[in-house]
Amino acid sequence: MPVVTTERHDDILVIISDNPPVNALRQAVREGLVAGIDEAMSDDSVQAVVIRCDGRTFFAGADITEFGKAMKGPSLLEAIDRMEASEKPVVAAIHGTALGGGCEVALACHYRVAVPSAKLGLPEVKLGLIPGAAGTQRLPRLAGAEAALPMVAIGNPISAQKAQSIGLVDKIVGEDSLAADAIAFAREQIGKPVPRASEGTANEDGVKNPAIFDEFRQKMARKIRGFDAPNAGIEAVKAAGELSYQEGVARERELFLKLMAGTQSAAMRHYFFAERAAGKIDGIDPATPLIPISKVGVIGAGTMGGGIAMNFLSAGVPVTIVEMKREALDRGTGVMRKNYENTARRGRMTMEQAQTAMSLLTPSLSYDDLADCDLVIEAVFEDMGVKKEVFGKLDSIVKKGAILASNTSYLDVNEIASATKRPEYVLGMHFFSPANIMKLLELVRGEKTADDVLLTVMKLSKKIGKIAAVSGVCPGFIGNRMLSPRQQQANAMIMEGANYWEVDDVLLEFGFPMGPFQMSDLAGIDIGWHRDPDKIETMRDALCAAGRWGQKVGKGFYDYDEARQRTPSDEVKALIAEWAAKEGKEQREISKDEIHERLLYPMVNEGAMILEEGMAQRASDIDVVWINGYGWPLYTGGPMFWADTIGLDAIVAGLEKHGLPVAEMLSKKAAAGETFNG
Ligand code: 3HC
Ligand code: NAI
Repeated sequence: MPVVTTERHDDILVIISDNPPVNALRQAVREGLVAGIDEAMSDDSVQAVVIRCDGRTFFAGADITEFGKAMKGPSLLEAIDRMEASEKPVVAAIHGTALGGGCEVALACHYRVAVPSAKLGLPEVKLGLIPGAAGTQRLPRLAGAEAALPMVAIGNPISAQKAQSIGLVDKIVGEDSLAADAIAFAREQIGKPVPRASEGTANEDGVKNPAIFDEFRQKMARKIRGFDAPNAGIEAVKAAGELSYQEGVARERELFLKLMAGTQSAAMRHYFFAERAAGKIDGIDPATPLIPISKVGVIGAGTMGGGIAMNFLSAGVPVTIVEMKREALDRGTGVMRKNYENTARRGRMTMEQAQTAMSLLTPSLSYDDLADCDLVIEAVFEDMGVKKEVFGKLDSIVKKGAILASNTSYLDVNEIASATKRPEYVLGMHFFSPANIMKLLELVRGEKTADDVLLTVMKLSKKIGKIAAVSGVCPGFIGNRMLSPRQQQANAMIMEGANYWEVDDVLLEFGFPMGPFQMSDLAGIDIGWHRDPDKIETMRDALCAAGRWGQKVGKGFYDYDEARQRTPSDEVKALIAEWAAKEGKEQREISKDEIHERLLYPMVNEGAMILEEGMAQRASDIDVVWINGYGWPLYTGGPMFWADTIGLDAIVAGLEKHGLPVAEMLSKKAAAGETFNG
C-alpha cells in the first residue's frame, strides 16, 4: 500500500498521506507528494488540490531518522516548491500538529484550513536546527517578521486560532468535517489568482523597524543562552527582509547545513530520541494491562507533597492529602492555593481552572481516608524509621491492588517495601523540587516491583506532564548519585585553593543555570543543621554558626544585595582558609580547566558505574535525568552523550591525571574506542 494516495472529488484532487505514527516526511512521502501534484497538473479536469493526512496528525516534520544520511529522492524543498508553483489552488487541510517540514508544506500551499484543535509550529530549533525547507523565508513574508521570530527561534507551536490571527491559517473548519470542509473551501478558490507565501510582503515590518531583531534577542537572552540555532533563526528571518526570496532560501540553506553538521544539533537530536526511549521499559511488554488510577493519595503536605499533589489535580485526578497536624495541613494546602492563584495571575491557566483543580483536593488528618486510593505517594521526612512506619500503616489501610510509592531522595526502596506485605506494589517516585514545575520523575524499580505497577506509573507520568526515567535501587538513584562526586570535588577543590566563585563560574560557563555553591545558598545551608552554634565540626557548621544560612537571609557562600546579585564574601574566604589550614591542606592555584575536569569527569565515571551495575537501562536515560532534573545543558546532549563527543579516552586520561578512580566499564569502552550511546 503506497503511503501517499489520491482521491478524486469531481474537480478536486485530494492527496492523502498515511505514514504512521506522525506522517514524518520520509522519502516515500515526498515522492508521493510530487507524484500527486504531477497528477493534478497533468489532468485538465482537476481544478484544485487538497493535501491532507490520515492518522493522528498532519505531517509532524521531516523524518529525523533520515538526518545525517544521503538525501534520496526529491528534497522536501523541491517537493513543496512544486505545490506553490501550481496555478491551480492547493489547500492544506490540517489536523493534529503541522510541525517543521509539515508546517513548511502548509506554507507552500496557497491556502491553509485547520480544525480548532490543530497546532502549527517550526520546532526545528529544539533539534538544534532552523527550518530547512524555506520556512524561515515563507513565514515572515506571509505573517511578518515579528510573528515569525518566536516560531523560528523558540519553536513552540501555536494554536489554530493564533495561526489564523497572524495569517498562517485562512479558515478554521469543523473538528469532525475537515476533509469535506477543505474540499468545499478549495472549490471556492477555483479561478482566483493563487496567493503565494514566497511573494508575500508582510516581512516589511522587520525592514521598517529593524530594531525588533535585537529586541527579541535581548528579551530571549536567558532562554537561548549557549544555543547556536536560535541566533541562526533570527538571522534567517532578518534575511527574509533584506534579500530576495531565492537569496533568502540560499542563506537559510547555508545556516541549516552548518547547524546540521555541528555537535549541538547532534546532541539535541540524540536527546529527542533519548526522551522517547526513556519511556520504554526493557523486558516489559508495553501491552501489559494497566492498573486504573482514578484517585491518588499524598502523605505529607510539605515542600514536596503539595507540589506532587498539584500535578494530579491539574490533570483532573482527585487527590487526598494527609498530614499529622492541622497546622501543617492548612499551611500546605494554603501554599498550593497560592501557587495556583499565581499561575492564573500570570496567565498560564484561568482562575476557573485553578479553582477546579483545588476543588479536587481533599485535605485530611486521617490515613483512613486513603483507603480507596489507587496510588498513594509518600512525601514525609527523609528517615527510614518514619518511612517504614508510614508504609506499614498504609499497607493495612489502603485497598488491595493499590500502588504505594515513596518520594525518597536517597533511601533504600527495597527496605521501605519490606515494611509491607505487598512489596510488588511498592516503588519509588522521585519528584524534583518544585514538584509541580520540574519535568523529571525518576521511577525507582524495587527488586520486587511488579511489571504492571511500573508500567502504570510510567504511563501516568506522561499524563501529568512529566518525563520519566527508570532507576534501580542505589543511594541517590541516578541523579543524586551522580551529583555526589561533583559535590565532593567542589568541596575538595576549595580546600586546595580554588576560588569557590570560580568553581560556580566553570559550571555556568559550561551551561548550567548555577554552580554548587550558588545551589547551596539557594537551597539553604542550614537544612539539616543541628542548630547548635557552639558545636562547630565542619565548614558548614561554621557557616551556619556565622548566620550564613544562604540566600534567604542575604548571605551564605556569597553576600546578596537586594536584587539577589551575588558577591564573593571576605568572611567566607577567611573561613575557608582557616579550615584548609586546620585540615593541613596545601594551597595552590587551580586552573579553570582542572576545575572543569574534576567536576564533570567523575560524574561520567559515576554514570558508567550506574550502567555497569544495571541501575540505569541505557546511557541515554542518564542524559534524560540530568537534562531535566539538574539543568545539564541540553545542547551538549547530557553527561553521557557529552562524554562520547569529547572521547572516553580523554575522560579516562583526565581522571587518571587527577588521581581519580576510573570505572571498569569506562576504561574498557575507552580502550576499545567505543561510546556510551552506540
Ligand atoms: N521523524 C521521525 N520520527 C518521529 C518524528 C520525526 N519528525 N516525530 C516523531 N517521531 C517518532 C518518535 O520518535 C516516536 O517513535 P517511537 O514510538 O519509536 O518512540 C513516534 O514517532 C511517536 O512520537 P511521540 O512519542 O513524540 O508522539 P507524541 O504523540 O507524544 O508527539 C509529536 C507527537 C508532537 C509530533 C512529537 O513526536 C514531535 O514533536 N515530533 C517532532 C516534531 C519535529 O521536531 N519536527 C521537525 C522535524 S525537523 C524538520 O522538519 C526539518 C525541516 O525543516 C527540513
Ligand atoms: P518537608 O519537611 O517539607 O515535608 C514533610 C512533611 O511531611 C511535613 O509537612 C510533615 O509534617 C509531614 N509528615 C511527617 N511525618 C508524617 C507522617 N507520619 N504522616 C503524615 N505527614 C507526615 O519535606 P520535603 O522536602 O517535602 O521532603 C519530603 C520527602 O521528599 C523526603 O523524603 C525528601 O527526601 C524527598 N524529596 C525532597 C526534595 C526537596 O527538594 N525538598 C526533592 C526530592 C525528594
